[in-house]
Amino acid sequence: MARQDTIVAIIVAAGKGERIGGADPKQFIDLGGCPLVEHSRMALAAHSRIDRVVVVVAPDQADRIPDARPIGGATRRESVRNALEELADSGVSTVLIHDAARPFVPPAVIDRLLDALDAQPGAVPVLPITDTLARGDSVLTEGVSRDHVFRLQTPQAFRFDAILDAHRRWPATEDATDDAGMAQRTGHDVMMVEGSPILDKITYPADLALAEARIAQAMETR
Ligand code: CTP
Ligand code: MG
Repeated sequence: MARQDTIVAIIVAAGKGERIGGADPKQFIDLGGCPLVEHSRMALAAHSRIDRVVVVVAPDQADRIPDARPIGGATRRESVRNALEELADSGVSTVLIHDAARPFVPPAVIDRLLDALDAQPGAVPVLPITDTLARGDSVLTEGVSRDHVFRLQTPQAFRFDAILDAHRRWPATEDATDDAGMAQRTGHDVMMVEGSPILDKITYPADLALAEARIAQAMETR
């Protein structure tokens, strides 16, 4: 049967990048000759199954990125919600929601996510945890089992109606750092697919140094 899907990717790029510091939010930092957010925008736009990419920026950053939507909110959750509401009733069947702070998006992960939506309304890339986990304050209090514990990455894929429902029903007072968790807790099952180490988020200066090294290496081998 021919697929009737309209697949839109939303990139949220309206954060302040406080943990990385610096004058400019991290999504605008130059990485190999273009702003960090451009890398994920290009990767998603180049994927044959994605019809359109929407980049969400803060209202005062509208002119920084061509065609960006100046609808970013005070929290990531609000930035995503604003984009979903803009897309509501426009015939979009599927969305991928992605952090601008993850510049490298392997096409194979996108395929795994979209394929998983045949079985479930949501899909998230995950990686196993390799370090030992523990709870503590200034001293260790107890160990934490790694059984069935995973790191969640983005992009996260959803049937549009499911994730819009999750956002609309989510309590206003409760923050959420990730859409897969919101979907799961509002009753929409989320399939786990294999993520990728290169999808790790740029949060601290050391993460940026790693991304710069990766770009430099890619340019050398070109
Ligand atoms: N984001 C957003 N709108 C917000 C907050 C975050 O669009 N109000 C986006 C960021 O731009 C980023 C992604 O959500 O691409 C993941 O958030 P995070 O890594 O926390 O980025 P920042 O919030 O910018 O960084 P920090 O928390 O260190 O200030
Ligand atoms: Mg943040």
